[in-house]
Amino acid sequence: MDKIIYGGSPIRGIVSVPGDKSISHRALIFGALSSGQSNFTGLSTAKDVETTKNILKELGIQFNNSNDEDDKKSLTIDGIGIGGFEKLRKSSDKEIYKLYCGNSGTTARLIMGLLGGAGIKAEITGDNSLSQRPMDRVVEPLKRIGVEIESTQGHLPVRIIGGKAVPFNYTLQVASAQVKSAMILAALFINGTSTIIEPQETRDHTERMLLLMDGDIMIKRLLNGKNIIINGRKELTPLSFKIPGDISSAIFFIAAALIIPGSEITIDHVLLNPTRAHILEVLKRMGAKIDIEQTEEFPEPVGNIKVTYSRLNGTRISSLEIPLIIDEIPALAAIAFYARGETIVTGASELRVKESDRIKSITTMIKSFGGSIEEKDDGFIIKGRKRAHPSQVESFGDHRIAMAGSVLAMTVKGKNVIKNSECVEISFPEFFQILESLKTEA
Ligand code: S3P
Repeated sequence: MDKIIYGGSPIRGIVSVPGDKSISHRALIFGALSSGQSNFTGLSTAKDVETTKNILKELGIQFNNSNDEDDKKSLTIDGIGIGGFEKLRKSSDKEIYKLYCGNSGTTARLIMGLLGGAGIKAEITGDNSLSQRPMDRVVEPLKRIGVEIESTQGHLPVRIIGGKAVPFNYTLQVASAQVKSAMILAALFINGTSTIIEPQETRDHTERMLLLMDGDIMIKRLLNGKNIIINGRKELTPLSFKIPGDISSAIFFIAAALIIPGSEITIDHVLLNPTRAHILEVLKRMGAKIDIEQTEEFPEPVGNIKVTYSRLNGTRISSLEIPLIIDEIPALAAIAFYARGETIVTGASELRVKESDRIKSITTMIKSFGGSIEEKDDGFIIKGRKRAHPSQVESFGDHRIAMAGSVLAMTVKGKNVIKNSECVEISFPEFFQILESLKTEA
């Protein structure tokens, strides 16, 4: 489905965005793993999160929505505990869970760690895009620790055949919170101490959640990164909290407000965890007028963000920053379109293995609006401009490209088309509706 956008008018108002996708995936998985009933409000409405929920349902986990029919964001989960998962082991090869992960890399990789650790037989598949993404980053370390697991030439389908995971020390080879979380999940089933060494910081929701659940987990900060030390087989207490708004969704409205003259918006109750909200620091150093009012600290920092149209300068992103802003780079590229001078992104080859090859799709998007971008193996250089022309944006079926393209479209008077715009449902089904509600008369 194509979406038509006529831009050129400022955006103004106060909005909320749905619950954070990364935290929502983990809330469902850790809720299922706990020994008792967990309660969450403000869950993400993303299709990816629905995928995680459906897989847990296939495994027999029971969810109850709130009594209010319209409230799809509140949920109770009847956890079955670590022992409950072990009981799901199947005996014969004919009895194997067939689990479809759709477009969701987080679902696929976290479920591999969970089921691999528990020794549950499963075949894990996904859609075309997910089937092209690398899975050996999880399959190989799981093999090393004793899980019998095989990929299809490094990709899905992945089959977990059984095996028994033993205590391990593992240094992450990719700065990936998905790989880290998969290994942490596996460690929860192991009798003994396991250590995950993370040389470069990535999002830390898994660690925070386990601490909240009285998990036997210790974090040792190092000069470069940290060690995560886990004693497995400890029962986990249930969770109960409100999930903060997703900064990776909020960023598209932040971007639009920064580059459409006359705009000013406030987004309330947004996740401010520094491993996720680092993009705000990057934007501030580009000259963005952003006011942050922190309202909560625990279990995750949360607050309100006010953004006003700003004249921006380009910036250089260091490779250490990449994991902290990885999902915000398409929006950053839209902002860089209008920033004076060059914005240089390097050390970001991970972008090539996201929902699309995001270095290519960002390059195509910027060029389609008449922008100047040079594609590099591990990033890109954008030279800022004063004006964009109307565009037909190829989304490549990638939700974050469709939304970044929509942000640029909002800056342009005239008719823009976002192709296959329905892909926004992967993370943010309400995106176009909220964008429309923020539009004012020029
Ligand atoms: C995620 C981690 C990131 C991110 C993805 C969600 C998570 O992937 O891009 O959208 O919830 O752990 P990597 O950890 O593979 O970089």
